[in-house]
Amino acid sequence: MEDLSPRPGDLEPIETASRDEIAALQLSRMQTSLRHAYENAPFYRTRFDAAGVHPDDLKSLADLAKFPFTTKSDLRDTYPFGMFAVPQNKLVRVHASSGTTGKPTVVGYTAQDISTWADLVARSMRASGARAGDIAHIAYGYGLFTGGLGAHYGAERLGCTVVPVSGGMTERQVTLIRDFRPRVIMVTPSYMLSILDEFRRQGLDPRDSSLAVGIFGAEPWTNAMRTEIEQAFDMHAVDIYGLSEVMGPGVANECVETKDGLHIWEDHFYPEIIDPVTGAVLPDGQIGELVFTTLTKEGLPMVRYRTRDLTRLLPGTARSMRRMEKITGRSDDMIILRGVNIFPTQIEEQILKCRALAPHFQIELTREGRMDSMTVHVECTAASGSDAARTASMKELAHHIKSVVGVSARIVVHDPGGVARSEGKAKRVVDNRPKA
Ligand code: DLL
Repeated sequence: MEDLSPRPGDLEPIETASRDEIAALQLSRMQTSLRHAYENAPFYRTRFDAAGVHPDDLKSLADLAKFPFTTKSDLRDTYPFGMFAVPQNKLVRVHASSGTTGKPTVVGYTAQDISTWADLVARSMRASGARAGDIAHIAYGYGLFTGGLGAHYGAERLGCTVVPVSGGMTERQVTLIRDFRPRVIMVTPSYMLSILDEFRRQGLDPRDSSLAVGIFGAEPWTNAMRTEIEQAFDMHAVDIYGLSEVMGPGVANECVETKDGLHIWEDHFYPEIIDPVTGAVLPDGQIGELVFTTLTKEGLPMVRYRTRDLTRLLPGTARSMRRMEKITGRSDDMIILRGVNIFPTQIEEQILKCRALAPHFQIELTREGRMDSMTVHVECTAASGSDAARTASMKELAHHIKSVVGVSARIVVHDPGGVARSEGKAKRVVDNRPKA
């Protein structure tokens, strides 16, 4: 694979600034942002007053711990526009979550917010090894989801030729990749696997494709999955993170030259890690729930937003801004099976150890009597469909899960294509247990 380390002049000065410079910028921006939230969003004024805090109390970054958290339910309770800090006619765009579990959450952007977002996605793409002049194939969904349009504006800002394909119509994805010869693809890692299958179905060698950089995010994926995709396409696979409430894609991104976790763009987002139970701020290096305070957002400033994502903060490497470790999972996705905490990413790692299994999977939870049980639905590869090969893979995977994750799981090995696919975020867990 190509060496894509940044060349002199590629980076913005803030990406290599000293920690003192970064902290000074964060403090002044945080003071301005808290004041903006307090003065212009009645939601925050009420919240801060109830907690007995005022933006003037923020004299140091550590003082942020005195301020109350914001959660997804605050957005739901103020649906649709109740948390915005500018009048609706100053918003140039809204996005919204799918709302599968109740009302959607709506987020809004001023023209300046959209511009900042484009800058940060452009920075993320540069960190991933993309360059001005590249053709960028964007297969994140366009629409209310932030993935497609967020990537789109960033790719344009970087100076790419954008192919706004959106998700779905997998056969056409492959045709367009063959015909337009993009160097960059942006898509969820699970949908990239479907594109990979389609290459093979058409008898094409994915290693011959023009793709050199894949920028994958919107769902958890493991380093084992990275290796799988990199080898299959002979390309770099880089992790991009973000969430609608904070902005969308481009809150943090890996650097292609190190691939050692995601640098958080700390000049715009202030991260904290908290104990999810007590809410106490944890020191860097400890795993907990990631919390963000936006430093420059106008439309929807977020103060201490609880992401539910679990990770830890690490010092900067390729950039001076801190890194977050690749996300293992969300607290909402954690399965507690007979007392053992399990994340779908742990199952993914075990599946990728089995050469006769494809990397698509879904976990089903059921209850038999009073016992919860877990079934892992996987697929054999086209070359390993014999009964003997399936039985061997079933035993192999059950053994890995038992010995590494620590639980017994039932394994069902389906034919190729037998596990449900998604064109965006994969649904990893299907809970068929009776509702309490
Ligand atoms: O998924 C934004 C996005 C689009 C990020 C495209 C990257 C690429 P939401 O739909 O609001 O926004 O979902 C946010 O997705 O809290 C995480 O749980 C998860 N997530 C996003 N990126 C990653 C990642 C977009 N790189 C939620 N690794 C977040 C693991 C991720 N989880």
